[in-house]
Amino acid sequence: MLCGRTTRRVCSGSNVTKAKWRYKKNARSVSTTDSLAEKLTEEFAINLKRHLEENRYTNADKAFKLILEKLDADTRVDALQYFRGIHAVTEAFTDVPGANKHENQRILAALNDILSQAHSECSTASEPVKIAVTGACGNIGYALIFRIASGQLLGPNIPVQLHLHDVPAAEQALLGISMELEDCAFPLLRGVKTFTNPESAFEDVDYALLAGSKPRGKSMERKDLLRGNATIFLEQGKALNKSAKKSVKILVVGNPANTNCLVLKSNAPNIPSKNFTCMTRLDHNRALYQIAKKAQVNIHDIQNMAVWGNHSSTQYPNINHVLINGTPATEVIKDPDWAVKEFIPTIQQRGASIILARGASSAASAASAIIDHMRSWVYGTRGEWTSMGVISNGEYGVTPGICYSYPVVASGGQYEIVKDLQIDPFSAECLEKTHKELLEERDAIADLLS
Ligand SMILES: NC(=O)c1ccc[n+]([C@@H]2O[C@H](COP(=O)([O-])OP(=O)(O)OC[C@H]3O[C@@H](n4cnc5c(N)ncnc54)[C@H](O)[C@@H]3O)[C@@H](O)[C@H]2O)c1
Repeated sequence: MLCGRTTRRVCSGSNVTKAKWRYKKNARSVSTTDSLAEKLTEEFAINLKRHLEENRYTNADKAFKLILEKLDADTRVDALQYFRGIHAVTEAFTDVPGANKHENQRILAALNDILSQAHSECSTASEPVKIAVTGACGNIGYALIFRIASGQLLGPNIPVQLHLHDVPAAEQALLGISMELEDCAFPLLRGVKTFTNPESAFEDVDYALLAGSKPRGKSMERKDLLRGNATIFLEQGKALNKSAKKSVKILVVGNPANTNCLVLKSNAPNIPSKNFTCMTRLDHNRALYQIAKKAQVNIHDIQNMAVWGNHSSTQYPNINHVLINGTPATEVIKDPDWAVKEFIPTIQQRGASIILARGASSAASAASAIIDHMRSWVYGTRGEWTSMGVISNGEYGVTPGICYSYPVVASGGQYEIVKDLQIDPFSAECLEKTHKELLEERDAIADLLS
């Protein structure tokens, strides 16, 4: 947290709603470069610096100085735009005298995250960040890799080195992808290495994005798929344990994602449990879109969405805590049956609907969700909730050790499960149903757990 006290009052007269609206609007604008950035002057920068100093944002001050001293003129414009966002958010924060503690914490977390993102993205790192992608030749891999190499994962100033991994039969395809990457001449890409051996692929990596897995064959039972893929993650868990940095942040995408993540973690005892996650961000994003469409609002107007449990048709996308511009979604959407009859089944079946429509499973949207998941984890959620499959410590009655999707907030590279939420009887039943499925999956591959 940047500061332990409230800031001085910068502007007055607006009501809480206006301030919240401005906060959201400004928080949104900080990640894009627009013509406003060009209007920023040194004078503004000096005023902003004074403002930050008066408020004892010491880290902000350091970051600010660093940016001014080290960056060239073009990059400085981008950096100043970030700081303009911080300034505006600070104003909004100080303008919310009646806001509750939770709201204030959320805004402070937003400030903190904007700042650390600005700091990381504006620092000119010299060492490339090493990112492993398994299943690199698959549909998701192809939609993902070029986005990472162009800077969309870690930002415009952080060089990356890609470690692309797939099965031996895909060796030629790996070569083809690395040739295409060369042909893009991405300035941030400091090397591509291809591998068919996971231990070499994970050597010294900072991030591991694991999409490599077998597709479900025609006459294959879910049980067979579970076992086949769990075996892959057993081998990859051991390889990560041996070769990756101990601080590696891991995202399991390959299905069944939660149980694969459990197998992975169980076979990599040297890496902290908190570093293992599986992806339910696609389900989360799907839910955001359906709510926005129903309520006729923008995605950014929606807060506190949560997807619980397994990334399967038993998942529970829960609308009960969702706020739309600060008002409970259940009040905004004046259709009491919509959540149970339409919304929940739509999200639970969305993957299958895509396969039916496209003849192939979600790939571009999955790649986009991977970017979102990792950016949230690395750069924080600015006080907002997102959904992640994480190793449970027993929160909300879930069996400790299994990988279960919860609402989380992230800041400073760490996520926390949102605690003390009220769970109504219908939700409790849904949470238990998906929990039970995860226990069954775990029991089916129990011999692969260490
Ligand atoms: N969690 C989610 O939200 C989500 C969303 C969409 C897809 N998925 C899952 O992601 C996975 C990948 O999807 P896709 O569309 O890219 O599939 P795909 O079949 O196109 O690609 C899978 C790739 O994995 C490779 N592979 C197979 N075994 C491997 C191994 N042992 N090591 C490394 N690579 C291996 C294959 O050669 C292939 O290149 C699937 O399991 C899919 O169900 C998850």
